[in-house]
Formats: sequence, structure tokens, C-alpha cells
Amino acid sequence: MKNISLFRVLFVGVCAALLVMQLSAAGSPREHLLLDANWKFHLGDDWPDALHLENSGTGAGPASEGFADAYWRAVNLPHDWAVELPFDWAADGSHGFKALGRNFPTNSIAWYRRTFGLPSGDSGKRIWLTFDGVFRDATVWVNGWCVKRHEGGYYPFREDITDVMHFGGQNTVAVRVDATESEGWFYEGAGIYRHVWLDETAPVAIAPDGIFVYSSFKNNVPSDQAEIHVEAGLLSTLTNAAKATVKCEIISPDGKCLRPFSESEKLERESRRTVKLESKLSSPVLWSPESPKLYRLVATVSVDGKVVDQVATPFGVRTVAFDPTNGFLLNGRHYEIYGTCNHQDHAGVGAAIPDALQAFRVKKLKEFGCNAIRTSHNPPTPELLDACDRLGMLVLDESRLMGSDSGNMKKWDGQIRRDRNHPCVAIWCIANEQFAVQDTPPAANVARTMQDYVKRLDPTRPVTYASPEDNVFRGINSVIEVRGWNYHYGPQMDRYHAEHPNQPNVGTEQASVVSDRGIYANDREHGYVSAYDVVWPGWTTTAESWWSFFAVRPWLSGAFVWTGFDYRGEPTPYWWPCVNSHYGILDTCGFPKDVFYYYQSWWTTNTVLHLLPHWNWPGREGQEIVVQVFSNCKQVELFLNGASLGKQAMKPNSKLSWQVKYAPGTLSAKGFDDAGNVIAETKVETTGDAAQIQLTPDRKSINADGEDVAVFTVAALDAQGRGVPVAQNKIHFAIEGAGKIIGVGNGDPSCHEPDTFIPNVPERSVALNDWRWQLARVPHNHSTVPEYANDFDDSTWNNLNAKTSGGEATIKTENTTAIYRAHFTLTDEDLKGAGAQICFGGADDEGWYFINNQFVGESHDWQAQPIFDIKKFIHTGDNVVAVGVNNVVGQGGLNPNVAVKIFGNASVPPWSRSLFNGLAQIIVQSTRDAGEFKLSAIADGLAPATAVVQTRPCAPRPSMP
Ligand code: GAL
Repeated sequence: MKNISLFRVLFVGVCAALLVMQLSAAGSPREHLLLDANWKFHLGDDWPDALHLENSGTGAGPASEGFADAYWRAVNLPHDWAVELPFDWAADGSHGFKALGRNFPTNSIAWYRRTFGLPSGDSGKRIWLTFDGVFRDATVWVNGWCVKRHEGGYYPFREDITDVMHFGGQNTVAVRVDATESEGWFYEGAGIYRHVWLDETAPVAIAPDGIFVYSSFKNNVPSDQAEIHVEAGLLSTLTNAAKATVKCEIISPDGKCLRPFSESEKLERESRRTVKLESKLSSPVLWSPESPKLYRLVATVSVDGKVVDQVATPFGVRTVAFDPTNGFLLNGRHYEIYGTCNHQDHAGVGAAIPDALQAFRVKKLKEFGCNAIRTSHNPPTPELLDACDRLGMLVLDESRLMGSDSGNMKKWDGQIRRDRNHPCVAIWCIANEQFAVQDTPPAANVARTMQDYVKRLDPTRPVTYASPEDNVFRGINSVIEVRGWNYHYGPQMDRYHAEHPNQPNVGTEQASVVSDRGIYANDREHGYVSAYDVVWPGWTTTAESWWSFFAVRPWLSGAFVWTGFDYRGEPTPYWWPCVNSHYGILDTCGFPKDVFYYYQSWWTTNTVLHLLPHWNWPGREGQEIVVQVFSNCKQVELFLNGASLGKQAMKPNSKLSWQVKYAPGTLSAKGFDDAGNVIAETKVETTGDAAQIQLTPDRKSINADGEDVAVFTVAALDAQGRGVPVAQNKIHFAIEGAGKIIGVGNGDPSCHEPDTFIPNVPERSVALNDWRWQLARVPHNHSTVPEYANDFDDSTWNNLNAKTSGGEATIKTENTTAIYRAHFTLTDEDLKGAGAQICFGGADDEGWYFINNQFVGESHDWQAQPIFDIKKFIHTGDNVVAVGVNNVVGQGGLNPNVAVKIFGNASVPPWSRSLFNGLAQIIVQSTRDAGEFKLSAIADGLAPATAVVQTRPCAPRPSMP
């Protein structure tokens, strides 16, 4: 390793990040292609034989290359089929009562298939297939070769599939996903719910997740000069040694290219090697949530002067530390963590969150001052980290399980390598609440091993454990670098801190305040909880109480609230019909609950004044209603219909309450500063009935890239244009133009309406009658012989009992052919549908398949279960299927498990959703057509609404057509 100084020299002035991307495309043979579009999907485990991996390169059913998936549903990734399933009280409530899991075997296994071409010119490149996350267990075949069996729903997996590629031909990826078993105790989704990538690289290339770039400063406090450290992992599949040069260029946040630095190393044949480089950066621009400035490292690899790879990696210059006395330090200064724990789950789409929706969610959290996310209880989707880097949000990056066995350590290794370049990641978390073992010596050993391993891969970040204990210094707590606190705020914390003054602390999980948007009384029957900041149920706390404790103890570093967003599952404290949690500061759509304003008051510098509840209480005239005020004003005065109800002083980190005799009209408040000036005013009014719909997109224009989304708020307004906080109208939606609806929601924790409306394709199985068979002398190919003709007289042939497998229809001698024939009848209606398929249980050893004397296909693998598209071969009335089967070795014949399926025309039910307390959400994704889309909404008795969003031309991300 050689040190190369960089004296902040600008060598070509300004170059835009765009230019870097172009350089990357032009200078390097690497292609990083999104493989999200145009998958085929089938729900159901109709081919269990596929998992009998007896031979290589050949799979049963959809695993085989020749399988016909023409009538499967087309889906784009990310995709979560759990969100499409109905709710069922017999299902697992902690996972959101979706009809999934052991009690629902037909809903719990699904298949995905994707076909793509590769030009012959790509031969010689390495091809990598990467799944960012599949819930839960995945088996992957490429061109019939089983290339991966992966367990677990939260870790990426990747394979070099070069050897089994067809260069100059079509290639098929088939994935069987088994979501029968869960991992967590919360909604987890089902399917390929994160991105899939195909990477093509030269034989010498940067290894997957091979770049690590980080900065350091003397004493871990930013100064005028940052040390820049780069580790570039190289991979060579060449059969000869080669000298590789790694050249690094840093692009500053304002697009300036800084002087490059480089290093050369010899690569042995078929080897891996890490090249280390160092440089210096003067007057670095620091990254923080308030100013998320990103640098970019462009690493270019050359062999013999020829560029063979180039990868651009965003990074940030900043320091993080946890100090026993001063708590969390960002860039050398105390920085209070205003954090929230979050699961990966959003209204409408479940776990399959488009990248743009990740950004939407991060922005929503920032609105109330949240500056940190805990990715509970699993490694995050990479695009969440990208959004956090870009928008400014710290991250506590958590593993799924702790363990120091090779399997867990491999996952831990992968998680750290994948995520360590992100400046947003401030701390690693080895696990959450390991009640059974956390105090034991083995758990301490495992924690130490995982923690020490972090230090080998990432010298910049500390490690914590989300501990659900109070003043306990045994097991994991005794070895972990930063003591994590799940709950237990109070004197025990102070005692622990006094007894272990050298261990830093962080509130890994606090609050668990439950509340529902617009609900002001607990309601067991409907599964609703009150939005007043009250303690319910027993182990939870009020926002005010836990935060008041933390706010005055900087050594605690701040904390992560359970949770930022509501999520499906864990419907605490009630059960069915409730299907959601109530812990969120935001509901599942991201609509604020009242408690949002409590946090906004004390976590931001905005002037906040918020009143609750709403003021629509017909029938409660004269009764006392509790009015709460969340505000950071020094004093607040409350008025009902203009009459003062008194002024109260606000203590820091608290809230105010009044008992108010209800009268319809206007409840209003004024907020005052220290000098008695009015600095804020707000009101809630008794509204009229809902009269009109309002549609408001989060953005007026989105990218026409087939990925971007517009998130619409659907509201009911009264005749005066005021939001009606109690409206529950059912709204129906329609869309025209360059957009498609991908999900609807309303934040109602007990709503059982569908979040998504998927195409329904009617399917009918047709009986096959009068099977006959006869040994025959036919050529072993698909030439027509008289026996295949419809009018051939097979009445003297043997009957074949289709219920028995083989049996009397077995060909007993080798190199002998038999012909099998059967009839099926179709109606005019059948011919008008989308199409038809014939599905065979298999032909041992080879088969030639005919419909109405026309050749439809052949099979040469006795384990294959061929399926053929027969739309163009069928007609109304009597149809004949004939199969010539050649038995090559042993005994053979036709597996009489044959089905003809007729598919009707797909119909998509119209999209709709009821409002929950005045609001609903609808998510629209762009197509790749530039222009616009128009969303319209209608409801009985309400004036309709339309909204137009522009879809602006843009270059879609490189993706596989
Ligand atoms: C915690 C747990 C979370 C969630 C929460 C509910 O103990 O870590 O996953 O279950 O309780 O209060």
C-alpha cells in the first residue's frame, strides 16, 4: 500500500455527476441492469416435484426451460403477494391476518419466471444474478439449473451464473418462493419484494460490494483535512496472472472532480485481492441529516492499460461516536437522536415498497423532526439507505438474528459490506431482545464475536444490542460497546449509568404509544384505540413521559420510538377485527396522528400549535370533552366560539389539557412566546357533511421511468371546503394515461378492504376422455404418422385408465414407442377466451405432442412436466390429443396426469377504498410513457374530483428488456 496525497487540486474544473455516469457507461464493460420488469407470476405449489433435485440442469414444471408461462399473470417487481390476499381470522394475527402461512398452503408458495435474451457478443463476460430480498425461502433455477437455495427473507443473495448462460439465445430464471414460515412477529410480506439485478462484468472486475470508502480525522473530530481510505476488492477469473490498476476519482458534492489517485497490484490467476488506497481531502464538506452532502468515488480498474471496470460509490464525510457522558456525537458534537423504529410495510403495497415511496416515507418522518431510523428487526432494503443518504436520516442498521455460526456470520459479513459506504448508517445492531439467552456466557461470546467482526470490516462505527433489560450487566450487556435500551426508562437507567460510567447508551426502542388517527375513545369491538396521549396498554408509555426523561439526559443519546409508521400485524392491544399495529406516529399511509405534533413540538424548531380532538360531536352538546394541546409555545390560550377558556403555561416537553363543554362551532387556540406575543394560531371547526372529494398528489410531476410513484391524498370536504374528519365514504377510482394504480389504503387499523386489485383470469379445466394407447412403430421425431390424425380409428387400442399412473399402459421394452390418444370437447365460448394450455405429468423418456394432428412440442427429460400453449391448435367441438412416447431405457410411458386448461379474458375489478376519518391514499406508478395521467375519484353523494400528474421524460435506469 502506498500513500498518495491529494492537495485538493481541481484538475479539470467542474464536471457534473451526469458526466461521471456517462464515463462509467462508456469506459467500462460493466452493465448493472435492473431485472424488475416483465416477470410472470403464479400463486400455488402446483409442481412440488420441482424440489426433487435428482439431476442437474433439468427441473420439473416451471423450473424447466421449456415451460409455458404464457397465461401466468404479468408482474413487475418489487412484488408482495401477501398484500393481495384476503384477511382471515384463522390466519396469524401478528402477521396481519393475511391468509398466508401453514393454515393456507395454497396461498403460501408461488413461482416467478423471467426470460431474457443475451447477445452472443456478451460471451466472455461474467454474469451475476442478485436478489436484494425475497420473502421467504427461495429456490432459483437458471436455464433449468438449480443455482441457489436461499433461506431467510431479509438478506440478499447473489450467484455467478455465467456457466449456464445461453449467449446468443434466450435465458430463463425461475424462482420458487415459499412463504409458509415466518421470521418475525409482524407483517413480512411474501415474494420477490426487493429489486433483482443482472450484472455483466469483464473477467477482471470489482467484486460484488467490493468498494469500501470512508473518511477519518485525527481524534475522530472533523478538521480541515480528512483522510480518505479506499479498499477495492478485485476478482479475476482469468487463467493467467494480470496487473490491475485501480484509479480513484472523488467528485465533490458540487460536482468538482478532484485529482485522481491510483494503485496497481498483481492479480494471480483466478484470485481475489483487495487493493488499498489512501488520499487526503482538504476542507471537506460534512454530511449530516440537516445537510446531507454526498461525495462520489469513481473507481476505475484497468488491465494492461485497458479499462475493465468502473463503479461509482456515493459516500459522505462525517464522524460518529457514542460517548458515555455526552451521548451520540455527530461530527464531534452532541447530536440528539430523534429516532423511530420502522418495519418495511406501507399501505397499498405491503413490503414491496417502490424506491420513490421509500423517499416519501423518509420525508414524512423528517416532518416531525425524526432524524434517525432503526431498521427493526432486519437489514434494510438498499434503496432505503440511498434515500437516507440523500435526504439526511441516520440509520441504526440491524441484523435479523444473532449468531456466530458460519451461516449467520456470512450474513453479517454481507450486511456490513453492502451497507458500510452509506454515511447515514451510524451504528450496527447485532440483534433485538434475545430474552432466552441474553444474560448467558454463550450470548456474550456470540455478541463479542459479531462486534469484533465489525471492527475488521468497518473501523468507523460502534455496535449495539437492543436490550429489553433494566439495570442488568450480564451476558450481552456486559460486552456490548453501546448499551441499548428497549423501554425501562426511569431510576434503573440512572443506576446503570452510575455503575457503568464508561459504557455509552442509546434508547434503541421506547414509547410503544398506541393511538389511531381521528379516534378519541378506546373501542374494543372495532379494534380502535384513542389518539389522546394516554398510557394504554400497561407496558406502553405516553410520549410525554418517556421523552421528558430522555430529553434531560444527554448521555442517553436520544432514542428510537416504537414506531414511526403503523404496520400490518401486531394489532396490540386488541385482536381481530383489528389487523394493524397502532404504535405509529404516522398511520400506515403516513398520515399524521395527533402525537405527530407532540414530537414535532419538541424535536423541531418549528413553531407548533395543535389541538385535539376534532370538533364534530353531534349529540354530545353540553358534555365535557378533553381537549389536548401539543405545542412548543410558551403559553397557550384556548377559545370556544370566541370565548376564552383560559391560558396555560407550557412546560418543556409537555402538553396541555382542558375540559371543555362541547358546543358546535370553532375551538381555537393562540400560542404566545416569552414576551407574550402571539406567534401561532390554530382552530378546529365543526364541519358540515361531506360534499366533495379532493385529490392531492404529493408531486405534480414524476419521472416516466416505470418506477416513480405519485402518492395521492384523498379527502372529503364539506361544502365550505373544510376537511370532514369523520367522513367514511367509499371512493371509486379510475385512471387514464401514463400511470397505473398500484395500491390504496386509508390507515384504518381494522379495514378489511383490499389494498390492491389484481386481474382476475377465469380458468376452466376440461376433461380428457377415452384415453387409448397402443405400441407403435413411429419414427422418433415429430413427423406426422396416421396415428396422430383426428379421424384415426383407435377403437381397437387398449383403454388407459387415466386414474392410474402408468400401470397397464407401461412400455416394458427399451427403444420402443407407444402412442397415446384422448379427446376433449370445447365450446364456442372457450375459443373466445385468452387461450388454452395442455399440461402433462411427463413422458418417460421422450415425448412428441400433437393436438388435432398438429405438432405442439416435444420433451426429452422424463422428469419434466411439459406445458404447451395450444390456443392456435384447438377448435370448437371434438379435439384430439395424441402423444408419441419413446421409452429409451428401463420401462416408460405417458404419465396420464394430463390437463387441458381454458383461460378466459382478464378483468381488473375497479379500484376503490373507503375513507377512514376523512382520508385515504392511492399510489400511482408511472409507465415509461412521457405525458400525463389523470386520476379521477367518484363517490355516492359527493362531487367528484380529478387530478393530473405530468410524467416527464427521463432516461430509465439501465434495465433488462
Ligand atoms: C418490543 C419489540 C417490538 C414490538 C414492540 C411492541 O418489545 O422489540 O418488535 O413488538 O415490543 O411494543
